[in-house]
Parts: sequence; C-alpha cells; structure tokens
Amino acid sequence: MTVSSIAFTLNGQPTVLPAGTSPTLSLLDWLRGQGLTGTKEGCAEGDCGACTVVIEEPSGARVPVNGCITLLGQVHGRVVRTVEGLRAPDGTPHPIQVAMAESDGTQCGFCTPGIVMSAWAHARSGGDVHEALAGNLCRCTGYRPIVEVLSGVAADDMTAPDVLPPASVRFEAPGQVFRLPATLDELLALRAAHPEAWLLAGGTDLGLRVSDHREVPASVICLLNVPDLQSVEARPDGLTIGAAVSYGRLLDLFRAEPGFGPFAALLARLGSRQIRGLGTLGGNLGTASPIGDSLPPLVALGAVVRVASLRGARDLPVEAFLTGYRKNALAPDEVIVSVFLPRPPADAHLACEKISKRHDQDIATVGAAMLVREAAGVVAEARLAFGGVGATVIRAAGAEAALLGKAFGTAEVAAAAEALAHDIAPLSDWRGSAAYRLAVAQGLLRRLHLRATRPDLPHEVTAFAEVL
Ligand SMILES: Cc1cc2nc3c(=O)[nH]c(=O)nc-3n(C[C@H](O)[C@H](O)[C@H](O)COP(=O)(O)OP(=O)(O)OC[C@H]3O[C@@H](n4cnc5c(N)ncnc54)[C@H](O)[C@@H]3O)c2cc1C
Ligand code: FES
Ligand code: FES
Repeated sequence: MTVSSIAFTLNGQPTVLPAGTSPTLSLLDWLRGQGLTGTKEGCAEGDCGACTVVIEEPSGARVPVNGCITLLGQVHGRVVRTVEGLRAPDGTPHPIQVAMAESDGTQCGFCTPGIVMSAWAHARSGGDVHEALAGNLCRCTGYRPIVEVLSGVAADDMTAPDVLPPASVRFEAPGQVFRLPATLDELLALRAAHPEAWLLAGGTDLGLRVSDHREVPASVICLLNVPDLQSVEARPDGLTIGAAVSYGRLLDLFRAEPGFGPFAALLARLGSRQIRGLGTLGGNLGTASPIGDSLPPLVALGAVVRVASLRGARDLPVEAFLTGYRKNALAPDEVIVSVFLPRPPADAHLACEKISKRHDQDIATVGAAMLVREAAGVVAEARLAFGGVGATVIRAAGAEAALLGKAFGTAEVAAAAEALAHDIAPLSDWRGSAAYRLAVAQGLLRRLHLRATRPDLPHEVTAFAEVL
C-alpha cells in the first residue's frame, strides 16, 4: 500500500492536496479554506443541505452529498463539483442559478448554493422534485418558487468524467493514518492488523463524530474502493448487496426489482438524497441502532449478513447479527461484506413503515416491516419486525403466533395487536412515550392488514377512522 497525497478532480481541475493534509478534514471545511465559500455551513450534521456538493460518477450519474460530513479521504480519486464550478468559463451563471434568481427562489440566499447543486444533480437523475429537495432547508421562500425551478430544470449536456481505477493507497498526517484498500484480501488483512481503526463506509454516522464532536481518529480504514463491497447481484431467489453500496444505488435497484416496492418506498424516506448518496446498509448494520430504517425490513425478509475475516467467512441471519442496543455480532477482525435479501414471495403481503415527526429527513420513532403469506385461506407465514420499541429490532413472536393458522381477518389482526403488547416493551423518551409507541406499533399491524385487503387505498393512509 503506497503512501499518497489525496487527489481528486475539483470543478474540472486535477487537484492534489499537500502531503500531511488531514484525511478526516471535512470537504466543506477544506473548500471554504480554499476560498470556495459558495458552499455554506448551516448545521454541520447533514440535515440542512447548505453544504451540498455533487460527486460526478463515471456512469454520468450526479450524486449530491453533504460536504460537512464527507471526509477528504473519501473523495480521493473522485470528481467533485461545487457551486463555483457551474458557471460558464466567461462567468455567466448557470441557467439554474438564473432561474432561481428570476423566479424569487432565493431571498437571503444562504440555502441557495446547496439548492442549486441539488437541482443540478436532479437535472441528470430526474424523479420526484419533493424527493430531490428533502435534504435542503430554506427558511425564507416557502418553497413554491424553488419547487417550480426544479420542476422546470432541463438536463444539460455535460459528459461523464474520466475517473481513475481505484488504487490501494494510504494517507498520512500528523497523528493520523487513513487507508483505502482496493481488494477484499487487503481489507481483511488491514482489519486484522488494526482492529481499533474506524471502518468508514459512507460516514453518515461516523462523519458526525468528526463534524459535530470534533474527533480526530488516529486510524481509519475506508471501505469505498473494495469491489466486493460495491457489487450487486440480482438472482431469482433474491439480491446480494455489497455492504458499501449506497442507498441511492439501492433505491434504484429496489424500484426496478419485482417485490421490493414497499422497501423502496421506505428507503426513499431514509435521510435525504444527499444522505442516501453516502449512506450504506453495512453502516446501518454496523451502527445497529434500534431505529435504523433498513433493519426491520431486513429482519422481516429473512436477510442473511455475510461477514468475513482472514479466518474465513460466515453467514448470519440478521436477527443473530443484531445482538443488542447498538451492538452486533462482529468480531474485532471482521467486516460486513454483503447482505443477501431473499425476494419476497409473489403472493406475500409486505409492508415497510416508518413513523417519524417529519415525513422526510427524520429518524423513526417506530419502524416496522411485516411479511404475511396466506395459503389455503389461512396465514401460513408471518414475520413481524419492529424497531424503536426495544433495545434492538424485535421480532413479535406472540403476534406472529396469533396470526399463524388463522384467517387473515380484522378480528384476528386485532388479537395479534393485543398479543403485540406482550412482545414489545418500548421506552419513553422525548420522541414518544411508551404508550404512544405501543399504540403506533399496533396501528401499523392494522395498517398492514388494510394494505393487504384494501389495495384501493393510497399508499400513505392518513385517516384510518374512515375505513375501519
Ligand atoms: C442527516 C442524517 C439523516 C439520517 N437519516 C437516517 C434515517 O432516516 N434512517 C436511518 O436509518 N439512518 C439515518 N441516518 C444514519 C445513517 O445515515 C445510517 O445509519 C447509515 O446507514 C450509515 O451508513 P454509513 O455507510 O454512512 O455508515 P458509517 O458512518 O460509515 O459507519 C457506521 C458504522 O458502521 C460501521 N460499518 C460500516 N460499514 C461496515 C462494514 N462493511 N463492516 C463493518 N462495519 C461497518 C462503521 O465502522 C461504523 O461503526 C442519518 C444520518 C444523518 C447524518
Ligand atoms: S451544513 Fe447542514 S447539511 Fe451540511
Ligand atoms: S433564501 Fe433564505 S434560507 Fe433560503
């Protein structure tokens, strides 16, 4: 592994950082230190979008990310564009910037560079405007003019950039070593030698320790250049997803693959496009928070986590992988390589739910994923997983037993909801009381039944009283 300087393409220019630059300095702090102050800092924790910059992928995709939690070492070898890089060589503003100014999409202007970058990425990806803007807060305009600008953006003709193939490199700075292995073997050897190092994937959890808590890690192993962790394989029986595949890529995959629609709808509410551009399933499993959005669906679908070390690989059902509050079954020398996600049976009812205070860019108060399959008029399979109601994601054994072998009817679902009260023991905190969380979990079970039996209802059901 050779010692290298951090190098990337910035606004079309090859850029090599001086030896000794801290690889865990945030991209935002570095940009502003260079005088590129168009990119703003609002919250420094991935929530407001003022720091949005775009990573241009070799495929031509434009991935918006939060510069405040992206670390310099993560952008080595990549192509970054900031708001300064949108103007024409003669200084003419980009048409999106003109539209924002002329349509009153900007007032104080603090949010505007971040919104312009989200709009520029949206011009390439298309899709829902609301989804494109969920990671950008504006205090002034009331959003209508901004939504109109994004609805009208035309794709421009910038071509896909050339990106060098990932190489195995190491960056050194006073008191810090940041390693970017390029093969799985190399990663496993590094992990065995440095069990204390931060294993960094998207950094949407770890990056906060740098931006918010000002931690300066001595040793980091970054997972982004290891092909095994970036690969995706779709088979008739399921999907094998590399641990470092971003949620953004995963969302595109789930939207294209039969059976994963409910999981896709949930993923579209995980963070924002910027967070999904960085965050990964491996990171959600690594953090093992009881309110990790992906965890209830992984449990309900019966996902299997492949972990590996120099000692070999082992496959763990996700329920065995999650061992407690923010705890998992990884040994100090192990890494998560991939997750196998069985394809839900075509005749199964699958619901993936998230109840949070805000629809977008908020963490769950209660999460749930429920898979129920009927055969010969009775429930033949029930896998009910709840998050935010205990130390880790919980399988509701009593409620499952109450459903199995019975008709999937309103009375049976009500009995299962009663049983659920004995399966889960939620805590009260500022996000919700124990009683509220139990009532929500029970309501979600009824919602699954409604989704299964009333496909005419909209996906987002807001008034149960009318239909019960
Ligand atoms: C603004 C904001 C909004 C968010 N919204 C949501 C949300 O709505 N829902 C939600 O669930 N989460 C949310 N998160 C949290 C975060 O995005 C997720 O937990 C994400 O999955 C973390 O993935 P990552 O790749 O960024 O992890 P990292 O920060 O890189 O790593 C997280 C942990 O996992 C470990 N890890 C990562 N990959 C591996 C691997 N392959 N093997 C072993 N260990 C590994 C790391 O060592 C670390 O301990 C949000 C975060 C932010 C900043
Ligand atoms: S500064 Fe708010 S998201 Fe980065
Ligand atoms: S224009 Fe002021 S925050 Fe958006």
